[in-house]
Amino acid sequence: MIDGIRRFHEQDSEVRKQFHSRDLKKKVMYYTNISLFSGQTANWRDTIGFAVAPDAPKPDEIPSVCRDIVIEYSKRIKELGFTILELLSEALGLSPSYLKELNCAEGLFGLGHYFPPCPEPELAIGTTKHTDGNFITLLLQDQLGGLQVLHENQWVDVRPVHGALVVNIGDLLQLMTNDRFVSVYHRVLAQNIGPRISIASFFVNSLDPIEGTSKVYGPIKELLSEENQPIYKDVTIKDFMAHYYAKGLDGNSSLEPFRL
Ligand code: OGA
Ligand code: NI
Repeated sequence: MIDGIRRFHEQDSEVRKQFHSRDLKKKVMYYTNISLFSGQTANWRDTIGFAVAPDAPKPDEIPSVCRDIVIEYSKRIKELGFTILELLSEALGLSPSYLKELNCAEGLFGLGHYFPPCPEPELAIGTTKHTDGNFITLLLQDQLGGLQVLHENQWVDVRPVHGALVVNIGDLLQLMTNDRFVSVYHRVLAQNIGPRISIASFFVNSLDPIEGTSKVYGPIKELLSEENQPIYKDVTIKDFMAHYYAKGLDGNSSLEPFRL
C-alpha cells in the first residue's frame, strides 16, 4: 500500500492532474491541504483521498498505479475496523456490536499522504497539531518517522514499527464515551529526508461532510450515572462536521462548542 501510494504521487503531473479536486463529494480526489483556505498554517504534504464505504468509487475511477492494492487494503482495513470497534465496545462494558449498531463504521475513507523532503524543516510542518474528528482512525506509516502525539504537554515520537498500525480515537468517540476514551493531539514534523508516506483510514458516519446526516450522537446512556453526568450535548453529524471543517486544523479541540 505504501508503494502504491508513492507510485501515485511520483507520476507525471499531467497524470496526477486528472484527479485534482477540492470537492469533498468526489470519491477520488487529489489535493494539497483541505484546510488551505480556512486554516492558519499550510501543511507540507499532498494527499490522494478515496472513499471506501458506503459508496466506493468504481474500480476504473481509482488511479491505475494503485488500483488493486487500494481495493485490497480497503477491504482488510474495513474488516479490522469492525473488529476494533467490537473490542472497544466490550472495553466499555457494552455488547460487542454496540458501536457498529450506532453506525460508527457506516462510512470509511482513506487518505494517502505524501510528505516531500523539506529543505527547511524548522520553518515548516508536515501536519499541524490536530485531533481526528471521527470515531477511529487506523494509520499505516512508513519507516521515516515524524509522527508525534501530545502526552502530558510533551511531544512524543510515535516510532514506526514495521507491520504495525496506529489506532487513533477520534473526537466523536470521546464525546460518546463521555471522556472514557480521549482523542489525542498529534502532528507530523517536516523532515529534510523523504518522501514520507502514510495512509490514514477514517471511520465516520457519513462520507458527506457538507450535507452530513441528521444522525444524533451524544454520551452513551449506559455509561452515565449519578456520579458520571453527561459532559457533552447531543450533536448531529452535520453540525459537528460543519464546525470541524470550518475551523480547520487550528490546534483547538473540535469538541469545545459541544461541552455542557
Ligand atoms: C491524519 C493524520 C498522520 C500521518 O491524516 O489525520 O494525522 O502520519 N495523519 O500522516
Ligand atoms: Ni490525524
